[in-house]
Amino acid sequence: MGKKDQNKGLSRRSALGLIGAGAGVMAAGSAFPTKFAIGAQSKIKIGTLLPYSGTYTWLGQSITNSFELALAQAGGKLGGRGIELIKVDSEAKPPKAAELTNKLINQEKVDFIVGPVHSGVAMAMAKIAREEGTMTVIPNAGANQVTGPLCSPNIFRTSFSNWQPGHPMGKVLLEEGKKNVVLCYWGYGAGKQSAGGFKDSFVAGGGNVIKEIAVPFPKVEFQAALTEIASIKPDAVYAFFAGGGAVKFVKDWAAAGLKDKIELVGPGFLTEGVAKAQGAAGEGLRTTLHYADGLDNPANRAYRAAYKKTYGKEADVYGVQGFDAGQLIKAGVDAVQGDVAAQKAMVAAMEGAVIDSPRGQWVLSSAHNPVQNFYLRQVRNGRNEMVRVAMENLADPAKGCSA
Ligand code: PHB
Repeated sequence: MGKKDQNKGLSRRSALGLIGAGAGVMAAGSAFPTKFAIGAQSKIKIGTLLPYSGTYTWLGQSITNSFELALAQAGGKLGGRGIELIKVDSEAKPPKAAELTNKLINQEKVDFIVGPVHSGVAMAMAKIAREEGTMTVIPNAGANQVTGPLCSPNIFRTSFSNWQPGHPMGKVLLEEGKKNVVLCYWGYGAGKQSAGGFKDSFVAGGGNVIKEIAVPFPKVEFQAALTEIASIKPDAVYAFFAGGGAVKFVKDWAAAGLKDKIELVGPGFLTEGVAKAQGAAGEGLRTTLHYADGLDNPANRAYRAAYKKTYGKEADVYGVQGFDAGQLIKAGVDAVQGDVAAQKAMVAAMEGAVIDSPRGQWVLSSAHNPVQNFYLRQVRNGRNEMVRVAMENLADPAKGCSA
């Protein structure tokens, strides 16, 4: 991260924070050091900007549930201070993102933003958060730019870059001798960049992408695409759809009679959180992702059991990313004992954190994106089971981030 950027990102917010802290001390007339005076008076304010309606509702809910679980496990406190959550529905609609982000920053005066899910929302949000210096943790949206050209000291991601989950799948198909592939995806940033990650390994290794079919987000009319795929008869199709759209695509795929004819693969979002809803149509599908349901480590066992007990359903990768957002923020706020105005020290603590995640331990790259394992998984009995590690400790190339 460039020094110049760091100062730019921090200046305004730090100044505001210091004014706030000073006023707090005066009002309390307290003899305690500043940070304790703040702690006694105010809660840490965290705004979530996540989809609570639309095709990505499941994802937003899963993230929020797990984020709240992490905070509850922290005793409902960060750095000794209580927590206030303000939940805002992004609707996964990019045109609404700037207004909602501004509202959280300027009206609600949140200390942290946690969000979003959708890459288009992330682009608008990250530009503002970068300018304002507001601490931001992205628990899903993979827009390559936010840990690329838009990288900033105050912006962190606990999920993936869109490039990452696609990249290992290109390698898997090549190893199996599959040479001719069709790409089919929602035609916005996430789908295009996911396809880009795939091509960076697949095409570079000698594979052919015969055709790319983009379906406008969030449309779920897949018939024309499926008819075209059936006539092309590729070795495999790499598809990016998620949430409600992934359920429909996989069911339509099977209904069109393609299931036993052409291999359908994708980044893990194709089956994540929705494998049960896809039923028989989803059985056997293989995907690559930084998580699998049955990962055998203590953090995953504890997290999945706690999630099930609290919410009565199975956890998924979106939840893991939300849980880790809670862990990352805790690492930062605890390090400054609740004095969030000490942003430089808080950022340093977050940058140095080793997150004991259900996906396995991970650290951040210098661009603030997780360096993590990617697993080849397969749906068995409605669960995304790990087959093997497809790529170990994969870092996003972070093109354009002057780290
Ligand atoms: C994104 O828009 O970045 C996105 C949305 C849903 C996913 C993955 C990425 O499952």
